[in-house]
Amino acid sequence: MCGIVAYIGKQDAYPILIKGLKRLEYRGYDSSGVSVLNGDLQIFKKKGKVKDLVDHVGNHRVKGTVGIGHTRWATHGKPNDINAHPHVSGNKRLSLIHNGIIENYQPLKEALIKLGHTFESDTDTEVLTHLIEEIQTRDDLPIDEAVRIALTKVIGAYAIVVLDKENPDILVAARKASPLVIGIGRDEFFVASDASPIIEHTKKVVYLNDEEIAVVKRDGTLSIKNIDNQIQNPFIEELDLKLDAIEKGDFDSFMLKEIYEQPESILDCMRGRINAEEGWIKVGGVETKMEEFLNAKRIIIAACGTSWIAGLIGEYLFEELARISVEVEYASELRYRNPIIEEGDIVIALSQSGETADTLAALHLAKDKNALLYGIVNVVGSSIARLTDTGSYIHAGPEIGVASTKAFTGQVTLLTMLAIYLGYEKGRIPRPYYAQLLRELENIPSKVKRILEKDDHIKYIASEIKDATNALYLGRGYNFPVALEGALKLKEISYIHAEGYPAAEMKHGPIALIDENMPVVVIATNMSAHDKIVSNIQEVKARKGVVIAIINEGDNVIKEIADYVIEIPATDEPLTPLLSVVPLQLLSYHIAIMRGCNVDQPRNLAKSVTVE
Ligand code: AGP
Ligand code: GLU
Repeated sequence: MCGIVAYIGKQDAYPILIKGLKRLEYRGYDSSGVSVLNGDLQIFKKKGKVKDLVDHVGNHRVKGTVGIGHTRWATHGKPNDINAHPHVSGNKRLSLIHNGIIENYQPLKEALIKLGHTFESDTDTEVLTHLIEEIQTRDDLPIDEAVRIALTKVIGAYAIVVLDKENPDILVAARKASPLVIGIGRDEFFVASDASPIIEHTKKVVYLNDEEIAVVKRDGTLSIKNIDNQIQNPFIEELDLKLDAIEKGDFDSFMLKEIYEQPESILDCMRGRINAEEGWIKVGGVETKMEEFLNAKRIIIAACGTSWIAGLIGEYLFEELARISVEVEYASELRYRNPIIEEGDIVIALSQSGETADTLAALHLAKDKNALLYGIVNVVGSSIARLTDTGSYIHAGPEIGVASTKAFTGQVTLLTMLAIYLGYEKGRIPRPYYAQLLRELENIPSKVKRILEKDDHIKYIASEIKDATNALYLGRGYNFPVALEGALKLKEISYIHAEGYPAAEMKHGPIALIDENMPVVVIATNMSAHDKIVSNIQEVKARKGVVIAIINEGDNVIKEIADYVIEIPATDEPLTPLLSVVPLQLLSYHIAIMRGCNVDQPRNLAKSVTVE
């Protein structure tokens, strides 16, 4: 989703804005722009990448120590220069940047046109700009009060920053359902969609809450009030983000860096939550609600995309290890039905960004139905993290690549620990097996490392199938969701059409697709279904399909019949997704690179879909 950066202080704003926008590029966008005040508003905006904006600015010397910058992911009005942000009020006094959607922009626009306003763009954002202008001039209000009143008339999601030409010593920021962070420097402030543009300047931040309006001033003062005009005390936090965590390091892409970070990120997810030697596991966010979890009649998991797939693995885990009934729902479907969610139900939201609009909306629905909300999120201070009754961060660190990798294994790690924790508390897991699972969980990071050492072999296989136009991924049991994830990875970064299927379902249709041009990736590491998977592989081979099998080390049966094999360390079946997904991440990565695709920013995709 889009990115917001703003600065007020002693330094020149323009370079800070541009660098900040580049830090936010991973969020996906189609255009960008800046507005810097130096007596007059100097506004530059351009369709395309931030680089295109910089080229557009060219040799202009953009002076001024207060400014706003934006990367847009269009929702209303196609990506072009006019619709790019910042937008300006009719009297050319205000400039504004916005992340989100003004749902009632049409009636607001009609009312403003009747008052004589004219509009340059097709965006909802420009309407908000004129609305603030109308209220400010009509009632001769200070800019922050005009913003607050305007926002009382808005329906939708927003993270905004407003720059008033006649108030060069302040910036006004506000949010609802879209993220906004304020960085506190020495007599200077930074405002951004997340911490990545801020971290190199300061570690002191305030995460704005929904319906809060902040005023930051050049003299170093920060004041916050809510939409009801009540003063709020800023809660200042210390960022533990490290700058190199948002740099690529010596990797060619963020995605590859994040695939290789998985031994550490999985370990970080387990840190402080598991000790095999002493024989304990605990998940903080659940401990405080243990009774509710133990007595839950069912768990509903709501998520999107890869997070939804992680939720599917969660279903298998909770069912087998904790004997709890689970429903996994696409958040976008759940929110528009009238689902049966009752008091006593637990709704788990899985989200890397913690800002996915559909997941957030599904949570609000569940809250209204008095369910207990539990969030499994990566981004600290994100909207979902703040909405839920309790939750656990996966501690995967910033995931910059649009295609989720380490966040997925972080989510699965947390779900695995949670299922073991609840299962043991409920007396469903005998002690010896419990101890075995804890030991094996602690072995996972080193086993992932061993898989990463097979990268060259995986790259070779990628070179053999990179020109395919379609692919099929098959798995059984815990590896069925892994097949879905492998297919999603391939399609979202290499643009090859790929489908994941339960292996047994192949006979009910997809087998008609099999021919010598169809690579079929079979994830065959779960031994309980081994004979069945061997039959599936033979069915594919009988139709000249090309079989790439992910197998346990030493599986000579499948090694004999598959065209290519990737051997990975064996583990207990409930833990197998944490290992079997890694070769699929690398396979899709290499295929995409060989096809010249932008793996970090695949076409049409955004890192966080904060619009519906
Ligand atoms: C996964 O590779 C995709 N980037 C996408 O499906 C993503 O998982 C989905 O948009 C959900 O995002 P979230 O985890 O931040 O809620
Ligand atoms: N809805 C606004 C627009 O389409 C903002 C989109 C965004 O969040 O980038 O311009």
